[in-house]
Amino acid sequence: MISLIFALTLASFQDMPVDAVPDIASESQSEAEAEAEAAAKPEPQRDPVTGELPVNPYQPSNAHAGAAPFAGTGMSDAFHGQEGIRRVVNGMVDRAIVDPRISEVFVSHDLVRLRRTLFEQFCHILNAGCDYTGRDMATSHRDLGLQIDDLNVLVENLQAAMADERVGFAAQNRLLSKLAPMKRDVVTR
Ligand code: HEM
Repeated sequence: MISLIFALTLASFQDMPVDAVPDIASESQSEAEAEAEAAAKPEPQRDPVTGELPVNPYQPSNAHAGAAPFAGTGMSDAFHGQEGIRRVVNGMVDRAIVDPRISEVFVSHDLVRLRRTLFEQFCHILNAGCDYTGRDMATSHRDLGLQIDDLNVLVENLQAAMADERVGFAAQNRLLSKLAPMKRDVVTR
């Protein structure tokens, strides 16, 4: 009886088209191949000069900053020029990346690039002599799934950084009013 079942089983396998016979050896081989391929894929390398990771190509434009610059030098002076703007941007980023309410959003993003592009954006909007070379706000935040609460926390971090820099309240609020309309591109949930 047992040998009859064996013979029948063997016969049915023999009748199967070659592709239909499960090939356990080649399945595990392709898994191994996939692993080897993943291991062989080079990690993205930081630029030796800028320290930044590469991004997909795009056409830079000051329009990507998302707001027109202020006229005159008043706002740049209120932020103590490019040096002050850099301190404000770094102060905001330093706070954001350790703020337990939003720190997770920044994990595994390129903070070297973020600090540079944010500096350029603020410097451009404050009319302190910079072009913005980063991506537009919708593209930059599309995959982050940000909520209005996240934006409010970042604004708090910015306010604290501006207070540290002794930027007057009127000037603080004028910058915030340039950033406010960007909410529609940044907040996606
Ligand atoms: C009006 C408010 C905001 C402005 C002006 C702004 C500005 C920017 C800029 C200039 C960039 C870099 C663009 C580039 O790499 O080309 C960027 C990217 C980024 N922003 Fe914002 N941002 C805002 C709100 C937020 C908020 C609320 C969060 C999170 C709480 C956030 C998290 C990030 C992250 C993680 C990246 C890096 C994205 C990537 O690596 O591709 N941003 N933002």
